[in-house]
Amino acid sequence: MVSDLRSAFRASVLLACVIICSSVLCPVGAYLYNNRYAGDQVFRITPSDAEEVQTLKRILGHMKVDLWQPNSATLIKQNATVDVHVKRNSTRGLHARLKLEHMDYRVFISNLQSEIEKQTGYRSSRRRRSESQYDYEVYHSLEEIQRWMFDVNRTHSDLVDMFSIGKSYEGRPLYVLQIGKRSRHQKKAVWIDCGVHAREWIGPAFCQWFVKEAVNSYQYDSVMRRLLNQLSFYIMPVLNVDGYHFSWTTDRFWRKTRSRNHKFHCRGTDANRNWKVKWCEEGASSHPCDDTYCGPFPESEPEVKAVAKFLRKHKKHVKAYISIHAYAQMLLYPYSYKYATIPNFSCVESAAQNAVTALYSAYGVRYRYGPASTTLYVSSGSSIDWAYRNGIPYTFAFELRDTGYFGFLLPESLINPTCTETMRAVKAIASGLLKKCETDKDRFPYI
Ligand SMILES: *[C@@H]1O[C@H](CO)[C@@H](O)[C@H](O)[C@H]1NC(C)=O
Ligand SMILES: *[C@@H]1O[C@H](CO)[C@@H](O)[C@H](O)[C@H]1NC(C)=O
Ligand SMILES: *[C@@H]1O[C@H](CO)[C@@H](O)[C@H](O)[C@H]1NC(C)=O
Ligand SMILES: *[C@@H]1O[C@H](CO)[C@@H](O)[C@H](O)[C@H]1NC(C)=O
Ligand SMILES: [Zn+2]
Repeated sequence: MVSDLRSAFRASVLLACVIICSSVLCPVGAYLYNNRYAGDQVFRITPSDAEEVQTLKRILGHMKVDLWQPNSATLIKQNATVDVHVKRNSTRGLHARLKLEHMDYRVFISNLQSEIEKQTGYRSSRRRRSESQYDYEVYHSLEEIQRWMFDVNRTHSDLVDMFSIGKSYEGRPLYVLQIGKRSRHQKKAVWIDCGVHAREWIGPAFCQWFVKEAVNSYQYDSVMRRLLNQLSFYIMPVLNVDGYHFSWTTDRFWRKTRSRNHKFHCRGTDANRNWKVKWCEEGASSHPCDDTYCGPFPESEPEVKAVAKFLRKHKKHVKAYISIHAYAQMLLYPYSYKYATIPNFSCVESAAQNAVTALYSAYGVRYRYGPASTTLYVSSGSSIDWAYRNGIPYTFAFELRDTGYFGFLLPESLINPTCTETMRAVKAIASGLLKKCETDKDRFPYI
């Protein structure tokens, strides 16, 4: 009923918007992104043997495609699904080619523009006045998120402190919220960053959700109260601020740092390949046009450098590092750059198991978990490997919902369930820090 009213409300606002649409209200025109995704499709292709893997790599290599999963053609594997966004000019050719090769494929999204319109067509109806009225169940622009951060800092000064750890390439401040009861002695801390990859909008939505839940449930939720009394949480809602802004205004599927323009078409760096551990080896690209470009040198991106500097300074008390990504429904821990077992495998693995069990308890959504290299793919220069190498014992990357049905266009109606279940997982990891890990006997290094 409430949601019926809400959608009726939204529909009427949308209608009003269409009628009074001006360059002020709808800066991108009646169609979002100037209709640039009209007719584009998202294919899911599953190569079933080594030969098909090679063929698919060759086909996609010759086309201008935007790979959603995996992030680079070099990472295409046998029996692993490949989700790929194809420009409208190329869709017919790809259909024909895949049929010719008898390859197994489906079209997940048959018109990307209408999927985008369906999911983010109500922007000007956003209620964004004050923190108490902030709508956590829609995606927000960077400006809205930053204004919200100032509001939370002001209205919850007992639990929240906001500060900047530096500036982005394009000069935007890099804000972090520290959440927790103040204490005279140094508390253990948890770092959580979101929005490392620009197009993964559910990430920043989760970081905001976490802060909301923390400050609102402190009074009545004894678990949360204990966590906030005994730990500090450093929350960075948007790490890649320039990329997020660019994805919001111009190129919905932008992944890297910085903005692209006509002069510099191949621009930006993958902020999760830019860390100083096995930098630019397997699973990263040294070509500036690629989505997994590792950058000209480690920590070349000011955003990565600022976080690395902060964590180096605070590594004595930061006991967990958590990075929020999408999509795949996985919980990953080191190593990412090689097939090998980490020293504290048992403690980390049991923390991951507790987290996915807690997550499952909300709505029965299953997450796979394990070392990033074997569970997802090998990638070098990632933040979890770097954080682990720098002495943070628990380092995780979440790949949130879904498994490709909506991909990066996870509808706003799924923000609530996705964040609710992820909260349980993060609380499980944080609660684990308050206990001693007893299982560390390296039970069965299974790889
Ligand atoms: C891929 O799947 C096929 C058919 O299900 C199976 O025969 C083959 O062993 C699988 N290959 C790998 C590497 O998993
Ligand atoms: C795609 O089609 C548009 C017209 O629909 C054309 O202007 C453009 O050059 C085409 N691009 C390619 C790469 O074929
Ligand atoms: C957050 O609030 C505190 C006061 O509670 C203030 O000292 C600090 O400057 C605020 N942070 C920002 C970034 O405005
Ligand atoms: C394992 O983790 C504990 C903290 O939980 C840490 O003190 C210890 O140094 C770690 N051991 C290794 C080999 O990383
Ligand atoms: Zn990501």
